[in-house]
Amino acid sequence: MDDQARADATEGVDHAARRRLLRFLLQSPLLAVPGLLKPSGGLLARPEFATPEAIDQVLDVFQMQRLAQKALDLETWHFIVNGSDDMRTLEANRQAFDAWQLRVRRLVDVSRVDTGIELFGQKLPTPILLAPAGAQATINPAGEVATMQAASARGHLMISSTISSNSIGEIRAAGAAPLWFQLYASPDQDLMRHLLAGAEAAGCQAVALTVDSPTRGNREGERWFARISTRKAPNRMGNFEGYAGPPRIGDPALTWGIVDWLRANTRLPVLLKGIVTREDAELAVRRRVDGLIVSNHGGRQEDSGRGTLECLPEVVAAVRGRMPVLIDGGIRRGTDVFKALALGADAVCIGRPYLFGLAAYGEQGVAKVLAILDSEFQRSMQFAGTTSVAEIRPAYVQRRPG
Ligand code: FNR
Repeated sequence: MDDQARADATEGVDHAARRRLLRFLLQSPLLAVPGLLKPSGGLLARPEFATPEAIDQVLDVFQMQRLAQKALDLETWHFIVNGSDDMRTLEANRQAFDAWQLRVRRLVDVSRVDTGIELFGQKLPTPILLAPAGAQATINPAGEVATMQAASARGHLMISSTISSNSIGEIRAAGAAPLWFQLYASPDQDLMRHLLAGAEAAGCQAVALTVDSPTRGNREGERWFARISTRKAPNRMGNFEGYAGPPRIGDPALTWGIVDWLRANTRLPVLLKGIVTREDAELAVRRRVDGLIVSNHGGRQEDSGRGTLECLPEVVAAVRGRMPVLIDGGIRRGTDVFKALALGADAVCIGRPYLFGLAAYGEQGVAKVLAILDSEFQRSMQFAGTTSVAEIRPAYVQRRPG
C-alpha cells in the first residue's frame, strides 16, 4: 500500500468512527443540555426550558421525550427512538412536515370546533389514533394495559400490536376505547388464525396487516445496546400464550394473495399498514382492501425512504376516496396532524409520542401526550378558521418555497 492509499484507508476508518461517535452523541443525554438541541432535530429552534419535574409541567411531546430518556435504560430508550441504518427515513418523516406551511383564514367563528371523525361507521372524538407498538411492558411494567386505560379515558382509538406484552384480551378488558388489531404475517397460517381469533374474541373492529416488514430493519442503536443490556424484565408476548407452535413472525414470501386469505379468515375490515406508493394503492383498491395506513414503520425498516407526508398525496390520489387513508410517522405537533389531514389523510396515528408518555409516567403519561396533541390540534383548527375536520383541505397548506 502506498502512502496515499494508507492515508485514505486511515481516513476511511476515521470517518466511520467519527460517524458512529456523532450518531451516538446525537442520541445521548449529553445533547439534552438546555439550549443546545431541540429533540425534534432543529438546532437552536427555540430556547429550551428546564426538564419538567412534574407531569402537569410538561408542555409538549419533546419535553415528554426527555423525561422518557431519563426514565429508561439505554437498550429500551434505543428500542423506541432508533431508526434503521443512518436514520434518513426517520429524519425524512420530520422534514416532510417542515416542508409544508399553513394558509390560514381569518374572521371565522371558531368558538366551537368539532375535531370528530368517522371511520368504518364509528364516530371518534379525535383523528389522532395510537399506532401499534410491541413489547410495551419493557417500556413500563403496566404495558399495553396502561396505554388502553389512557386511550379509553380520552376516547382515542388504539391499534394493538401482534407482539404486545399483554394479550389482546387483557388489553380489551382494561378499557372501552375503540380497538383494532395489527397483524404481522407468519408462514404459519394456523398461528395467523389463532391471532385473528383472539382479535375477534376481544371485539376488535378492524385488522391492520403490516406490509413493510419482509425483513427486520437494521437498527444499530438497538443492536448495540442490546449487547450490554441492563434491562431486568424479560418481555412477555401475551398473544402467543396458549399457542402450541413456535411464534414465527414475519414472512418474506408474503404477496398480495394475503388479502384474499384474510378475507377468507376474518370478517373484520382489513387495512394495509405500510403502503407508500400510488402503484400499491391502486393494487389495494383492486383487491378491495378496506383502508390504508401510509407508513414506513417510523423509519425503522428501509433507510433512505421518503417521509410519509411526501408519500401521502400520491396514495390519496390513487385511492380517490374509495377507502380511508391514514398516515403515521413523525407526527409531534397539532400542526402536523392538521397538515396530514389537509393533504388528504382521514386520520393520523402516533407511535413514539405516546411511548414517551408511557415511559415517563405510565397511563398518566400516555393520557398527557394525547391531551397535549388534542389541544394543539384544536388550536390549529381554530387558527386556520376551520370548524370541522371535513373543512381541512389542501387550500389550507402550501409547500414551503425554495
Ligand atoms: C413500532 N411500530 C410498530 N408497527 C407495527 O406494525 N407493529 C409493531 O409491533 C410495531 N412496534 C413498534 C415499536 C416501537 C418502539 C416503535 C417506535 C414503533 C411502528 C408504529 O406502528 C408506527 O408506524 C410508527 O411508530 C410511527 O412513527 P412515529 O409516530 O413513531 O414517528
